Order: sequence, then structure tokens, then C-alpha cells
Amino acid sequence: MHEHLTFMSQLLLNRVERGNQRKLKANDCRIDFFSNDYLGFAGDPAFQQLIWENVKRCPAQLTGSTGSRLISGTSRATSETEASIAREHGVESALLFTSGYTANLSLFSSLAQRGDTILVDEYIHRSVHDGCMLSMAQKWKFQHNDLCHLETLLKKAKGKCLVAVESLYSMEGDFAPLKELVSITERYGAALIIDEAHAFGVWGYGLATQHQLQNRVLATVVTYGKAMGLHGAAILTQQLTKDYLVNYAAPFIYTTAPGDLAAVSISLGYDHLKQNTTASACLQEIIKQFRNAALTTKSMAGSPIQVIEHYSLQQLEELQTALAAEGMATYLVKAPSVKAGSERIRVCLHAFNSEREVALLTSIIKHYL
Ligand SMILES: Cc1ncc(COP(=O)(O)O)c(C=O)c1O
Repeated sequence: MHEHLTFMSQLLLNRVERGNQRKLKANDCRIDFFSNDYLGFAGDPAFQQLIWENVKRCPAQLTGSTGSRLISGTSRATSETEASIAREHGVESALLFTSGYTANLSLFSSLAQRGDTILVDEYIHRSVHDGCMLSMAQKWKFQHNDLCHLETLLKKAKGKCLVAVESLYSMEGDFAPLKELVSITERYGAALIIDEAHAFGVWGYGLATQHQLQNRVLATVVTYGKAMGLHGAAILTQQLTKDYLVNYAAPFIYTTAPGDLAAVSISLGYDHLKQNTTASACLQEIIKQFRNAALTTKSMAGSPIQVIEHYSLQQLEELQTALAAEGMATYLVKAPSVKAGSERIRVCLHAFNSEREVALLTSIIKHYL
């Protein structure tokens, strides 16, 4: 026991000394430039009312599912929501998860085995890395968005080969070249999996759908905790892959299923998304205003995630403090979430941010850097 406590204190002390200790803070920000609520759905009273009316009609949705999906946890509401998600996205099937983390963990831990190869973009989300680790397959990273490097690795890959990318990278704010990735993986007989966590909702049903690539990949993952303002995720795929995951994906099988409220809210979320097309247009206007300030960033036009880097950690900390003094909450991304030396301020833009807020934000950033 004593040994464990000493070990933990030492590791925590290391974080304090390096200035990258993680701490939980209640979210009491006035001006939100850090949440993933891109369309403002989480704080939308009309959306809240829609869910509330539903709960009032059927309070049983509020309590637990009573078991795992394969025992008592697959309710009619869950099956109907999965069927309607599949119809909406024009895919054979959808499988719901409590989070994007467990969706990725399920996919990568079960689809590859020892002797297989998983090629991941170097900036892929941690959930994919953890899934790869559980699979026992060989994992190689390719340089970010570098198709030549990916091709070199595809030539050397052994066994079945999976390739993992995000359509919009969460810590970079740039896009993957999806069309080229689909062509190259098809050429080498590898299976592409696209994580649409940050694109879903911002661009309709995601970028794979927009580019009509959904049915040329093995699976896409959409999450409901970001633009949809809820919680949970779905894997969109063929019926065969869904059947396989139901049989072999341990993070899906060995856990209590979410209650009906999750499934019903997601269904209502799709209705709300279809009725609120102006939110994504407002978001694009806000992004344009931010980009017009011509700050140095490698994030791309159109992305609601804009990162400010190439400055010392101390400068970034001073900037974040100055922004906070004006009530603006941003996220300072430190190692190990990103490589040491590439710390950055991650600005998330929203449909509900005002022109005045963005003007203040960009003027303070310009003043400090
Ligand atoms: C790219 C990406 N994939 C997956 C996830 C995990 O999704 P969730 O928050 O629903 O677990 C995140 C969350 O931050 C993400 O950014």
C-alpha cells in the first residue's frame, strides 16, 4: 500500500514540476470558447423542452436499463433509435454506445488481432490508441495527413490492415484528405475507419456523408456529446460488422446498457438538427470573423477548432489568464495531450458566440502574441 502511495505522489509531483498537472474545475465560464457545444444545442431551451416533454410522457426513461445489451438492456427505444440512425445516414446498421471513447475502444480492440496491422494518423484520438493496445495487433503511426508516409506503411503492413483517421482533428483543427484516403486504402485492400466526432452536426451528418464516402469505408464513428449537445456515440457500418461487434467487442458486451433517455434524446437530437439548419450557418459566420483577424494558426478555414501555437508555454499561460480576466474560457493544451513543445491554446467557436466576443478574443490574442 505504502509503495503505491509513494509512486503516485512522485508522479503527481513530476506533473507539478513540469507545469502540466491536470485539475478538475467546475465550468462557470461566462464566455465559452472551450466547449464542444458548437451549435449551442446543449444550452438551447427549445431542445431541452423537447426532451423534457418526452420525459414527462414517460418517466420510466429516467431510470436504468437493467442489464447489458445482450441480456436485458436492449429496449424497444434503443432498437428503434439504432434503426432510425441507420436510415438517416443511409447505412445498413448503427450501433449505439455510451461514448465515443467506448465506440473506438470496441472497434479497434475487436477488429484486429495479433499479426494484423493498424495504421493510425499520429494525431488520432487516445481512444483509438487504447483500442489498438487491447487488440494485440501491431500499431504504426503515419505522419499527420501524409499520404506518402501512409502508402509506405501500407506496403509493409502484415495481416489484415486497418487505417484510422479523424475527419476533423480535435487538437489541430484541420481536415483529413478523406477522398484520397479512401482511394489509397481501397488500392491496398485496407479498411478505413473515420472518426467524425468533431464534424458530425457541424457539417450535417459528417464529412464522409458530405463527400459520399460513407459506403466505401468499414465504419464511421459519430458522437453525440459535441455538436448534438447530448452524450453517447454510434458506429455506422454494414450489418455484418454490427453483428461481429455484438459478438466480439468486449467494451460493448460487458457493461450495463444506457437507459432509454439516452436513445430517445439522440432520436430527438436528430429531429432538432434537421429543424435547425441556421445554427451551422451562424457558426460558419463566426469562424469567418475569427479567420479574418488573420492570426497565425495552422487550423483550417471552416473549422470550429482554431489553435494558437508556436509560442512559449509561459506566453500561452499569460494569454489564457488575460482572456480569463475578460470572462473568456479557452483550453490550454499541454503535454502529454500534445507533444511537449507544441503546447497550444485551443479556441472552440460556437454558433452562439457574438461578434463582440470574437472581436475581443482576437484583439487580446493579437496584443499578447
Ligand atoms: C476525435 C475524438 N474521438 C472520440 C472522442 C471520444 O468521444 P466521447 O467524448 O463521446 O467519449 C473524442 C472526445 O474528445 C474525440 O475528440
